[in-house]
Amino acid sequence: MDLDAIRQIATDAPARLGSVRTVADLEELESALIGRKSEVAAARRDLGNLDQDERAEAGRVLNEAFGSIKTAIARRRAVLELEAENTLLESDRADVTFPGVSVARGTHHLLTQTMDEVCDIFRAIGYQVAEGPEIELAWYNFDALNTPPTHPARFESDTMYVESFDGKQRTGEDELLLRTHTSPMQARFMEKHDPPVHVVVPGRVFRTDTWDATHSPVFHQIEGLAVDTNITFGDLKGTLAYFVKEFFGPAAKIRFIPHFFPFTEPSAEMLVWFKGDWLEMLGCGLVDPNVFDAVGYDPQNVTGFAFGMGVERLAMVRHGISDLRHFYENDLRVLRQFR
Ligand code: PHE
Repeated sequence: MDLDAIRQIATDAPARLGSVRTVADLEELESALIGRKSEVAAARRDLGNLDQDERAEAGRVLNEAFGSIKTAIARRRAVLELEAENTLLESDRADVTFPGVSVARGTHHLLTQTMDEVCDIFRAIGYQVAEGPEIELAWYNFDALNTPPTHPARFESDTMYVESFDGKQRTGEDELLLRTHTSPMQARFMEKHDPPVHVVVPGRVFRTDTWDATHSPVFHQIEGLAVDTNITFGDLKGTLAYFVKEFFGPAAKIRFIPHFFPFTEPSAEMLVWFKGDWLEMLGCGLVDPNVFDAVGYDPQNVTGFAFGMGVERLAMVRHGISDLRHFYENDLRVLRQFR
């Protein structure tokens, strides 16, 4: 057994390890130095063939060589691993002092904010929120709401009709139109739900109006409907008084004046005292028994109230906005005031 050669391998090992640049190369060299097929391993296997006295000396030399090579490998591995990590960190470096890319923060449009807020005010007292279709059947928009075929609101001067996309000629109750108010959801909701009902319906509505400071062919409403046994006008008044104080503040007062809607009886218009003026705010009334008939409720057993308010109007009054068109022009100088 050539112990000098083994010693030489151990002596040369640190220099050879030093020229290895990667962990993979290191592992290759490791198996050449002390792996199963290495000279050192072969010599260790041969120990058994030596005489007693030779064996002690050879064993010591081999153990020393093996131990020093192992230590040198471990040291080199630690260095290479650290280097690899540093290279990775370097290539992955983030300059935390570099100015960030600021993402412009969006906001909901004031009309959306207003609808959300109104819905929340009603949700707080147990109302559900529901939405309905903007393209509506004349039946829901008018007939189910006790509005006869001859009613002037049905004329094209007020209502926009829609050509059937399936090519079918529709007339009367089947006719398609852009809903002129959110009230059709009263009928749709009652058809689908048994009483008691407490629901608000935000949504977009359409009328044949010319665009000016107070009119727009498209605007937004929030409908309210409550149906139960023994609902009275007092319940309507109390509910709207609560809403108005939540929305306009505790100083706001309300007043009702008689009005007419085909689907409520009696009907009223509610005015709000806000910043020194009585302002018309919404239409309301007790649900007409004919509406209950149309949706399959028994008018002998239930009563209810309904109201409908314009979202633009609510926002204009509260924020002192004088021109409705501000809502649709998307001038950021206007919209940014309402973040
Ligand atoms: N739908 C009515 C309108 O658009 C408002 C209203 C709703 C009135 C519910 C009474 C009850 O003017």
